Amino acid sequence: MSSLFMPPEASTHAVHVDAIFIGILILSALITIAVFALIIVFAVRYRRGSQAKRGKLPELVSREFEIGWTTATLFLFVFLFWWAAAADLTGLTAPANAIEIHVVAKQWMWKTQHASGAREINALHVPIGKPVRLIMTSQDVIHSFFVPAFRIKQDVLPDRQTETWFQATKTGVFPLLCAEFCGTDHSMMRGRIVVMRPEDYAKWLTVQPQGDDLAHQGAQLFVSRGCSGCHAEASKVHAPKLEGLYGRSVQLADGRHVTADEAYIRDSMLQPKKDVTAGYEPIMPSYAGLLDDGEIDSLTAYIRSLATSTGDAR
Ligand code: CUA
Repeated sequence: MSSLFMPPEASTHAVHVDAIFIGILILSALITIAVFALIIVFAVRYRRGSQAKRGKLPELVSREFEIGWTTATLFLFVFLFWWAAAADLTGLTAPANAIEIHVVAKQWMWKTQHASGAREINALHVPIGKPVRLIMTSQDVIHSFFVPAFRIKQDVLPDRQTETWFQATKTGVFPLLCAEFCGTDHSMMRGRIVVMRPEDYAKWLTVQPQGDDLAHQGAQLFVSRGCSGCHAEASKVHAPKLEGLYGRSVQLADGRHVTADEAYIRDSMLQPKKDVTAGYEPIMPSYAGLLDDGEIDSLTAYIRSLATSTGDAR
């Protein structure tokens, strides 16, 4: 029935969202019907001049009845909250085995990049039945990555990374929309998600123009942008080592602990004074405006690749 009124249901998350939506819709309909039925019954039964019995209800029956229905509705609504919140929370964190795709939004297009280095514009090819993690940022204003068929929608912000993920359950082509007004051509900021069988996806990926993968691009930038001047093994500058950094907990100069994830690494390049590692001077200059989002993604991928080489795998 959902296909009549709703977009196709093409991800694992969509199944949960639709079940919650239809569940709440049915519950609301039942309550509405009950309320209107009682209004009509009481209006007829207690109309002026009718013989119906009036006066106080027996007190005991009335009190137990009140406690009963209040408790029942409380549990019902706590259940609804739990049901919806649980679905939303699982929508936040991608499984560890997810394919990673970098998404950069700009006025007015979607740029996507696969871990292999393959790039697409206003399109994203993914295999069916595999979790796909989207790591997203914007080059200008706020956009919103919206795939109705997957029931996912996530704001994409400048100078910040946001994430979402999905696992497609149907092959086909599904529309990708921008769901945040982002200027004149906001309504034209469309793309398509192409869900393929795994063997077709593998074939598609091999025929893409062979760019270097992200980590290799990052390794070159690491030297050409001067990062290696301080962060390389042989450097005389006292700078934090990047080997094994990714995914580790880092102690900061102000006593806080943070996990070195994508967002932390990105912030460290753009706002190096924000989270200074304990034991180091805040001497790193900001690279805001010097690196574009694609370069930041590449450098982050390179720093991640350093983590695995020390056995600190993820
Ligand atoms: Cu991008 Cu609206």
